[in-house]
Amino acid sequence: MRKTSRIGILLIIPFILLSISGNSQNKVIVHADQPGSKIDKAIYGQFAEHLGHCIYGGIYVGEKSDIPNINGFRSDVVSALKALKVPLVRWPGGCFADTYHWKDGIGPKADRSSIINVHWGGVTEDNSFGTHEFLNFCELIGADPYICLNVGSGTVQEAADWIEYVTSSNESPMTKLRKKNGREKPWKVKYWSAGNETWGCGGNMRPEFYADLYRQYASYMRAPEIYKIASGANADDYKWMDVLMREARGMMNGISLHYYTVPQDWNKKGSATQFDETMWFTTLQKTLKMEELVTKHAEVMDKYDPDKKVGLLVDEWGNWFDVEPGTNPGFLFQQNTLRDALVAGINLNIFNNHADRVRMSNIAQMINVLQSVILTKDKEMVLTPTYYVFKMYNVHQDAKMLPLEIKCGKYTSGTNSIDAINASASVKDGVVSITLCNLDPVNAQYVSFDIQGLKFANVTGKIVTANKINAFNDFGKKEEVSLADFKDAIINKGLVEASIPAKSVVLIQLK
Ligand code: AHR
Repeated sequence: MRKTSRIGILLIIPFILLSISGNSQNKVIVHADQPGSKIDKAIYGQFAEHLGHCIYGGIYVGEKSDIPNINGFRSDVVSALKALKVPLVRWPGGCFADTYHWKDGIGPKADRSSIINVHWGGVTEDNSFGTHEFLNFCELIGADPYICLNVGSGTVQEAADWIEYVTSSNESPMTKLRKKNGREKPWKVKYWSAGNETWGCGGNMRPEFYADLYRQYASYMRAPEIYKIASGANADDYKWMDVLMREARGMMNGISLHYYTVPQDWNKKGSATQFDETMWFTTLQKTLKMEELVTKHAEVMDKYDPDKKVGLLVDEWGNWFDVEPGTNPGFLFQQNTLRDALVAGINLNIFNNHADRVRMSNIAQMINVLQSVILTKDKEMVLTPTYYVFKMYNVHQDAKMLPLEIKCGKYTSGTNSIDAINASASVKDGVVSITLCNLDPVNAQYVSFDIQGLKFANVTGKIVTANKINAFNDFGKKEEVSLADFKDAIINKGLVEASIPAKSVVLIQLK
């Protein structure tokens, strides 16, 4: 057999890459010589609300369940979340938070009062998962807890008591109660927010009113190293941001922002799995709106806070589709396809690129609700395409963001166009990690990377893709979407060259 020479291979590989590519003009310059802000690991946070089967059935099944569990927490879910290195979980809502009275969820379970979950299906909430369960669960998976206080229907005293109950090491009625309920040592909870969506389900307030109320709550939010969070804007409500920053910036560490990708409209959002390429395009185009939102909110914040002391926390984001046929409309259960993987990759790239201001994000929601990383059905568990993107992007947690210049072709649908490539990069322990999304569902993108300021000898990669735009992982079936090795990147004359397959999310690492 004739051997191909090394020079021959070097000449042939770029040719192969070019010939399978859709666009040979894509170039990404990575400024490894200009590391920027730290990408706070909290950007990879999750959100768990008392909604549908997020908590009950998803996280918690109770100690007596025949589903394998650790103190009532599903063992399979705990292992999957540990493997995901979840840095942070936001709880108990969401809209639920502003109806939640924490004292209902402490003490012996038999004595806990049941309430009606008015926002989510009107079902009975028996409060068997309360403060102790949430904080113990966070300890079990190694995540920081983030608690949302009840401002909409609660009181300042109730909020102050909760913080004291959880975090104080002093003698007080609240800490005595905690000890009586079995927890001697306080928990370490840094993140606390005063209300959720106070412009909507959290009280329908005007920004001027909430700004004053926030100042009142913040005055009584006391705990070691507390990080105080104000309830921020709905999507492009820049006035809300302006008023809150103007009136209360000195009393907050962070302010939230909520934006969901809704492919059609709020009345008919569109199916999670049954969609065509037009809907794929619209979904990705609407997701890219996050770039504009983060940029413009950051501009408003810069006006009052040029030193960027206050963090912008996107503590709810993700795809919001119609519920799966036959499921409770109040439970917001939806499947998760390759399209969700792209939406996760794009949003996370945007947050990484804005790490100087964006310090936290929480995808909605962790299990069985909206764009989840995990779905469960009785004893079964499915890891979604979104799970695999989070797993791939873990390399960015607490790494230094690297600025990028992206020159790329367009992905066009009808008369509309969006950039075909979306990316972010970081460096940690001498390894440069670049995450890229190819939004084009048909054409691969040939990309040449110019990594400035880094000498490298080795390139490796990972990929999330599938053969269909609506491929998903289903119960009892072989996975259609998962994380695989990516081998189509080479080093050629000091540049990295790669063919990024259509409809894929790719990680390239250099060292
Ligand atoms: O994530 C579902 C709901 O969306 C949350 O409860 C609320 O904050 C938002 O409107």
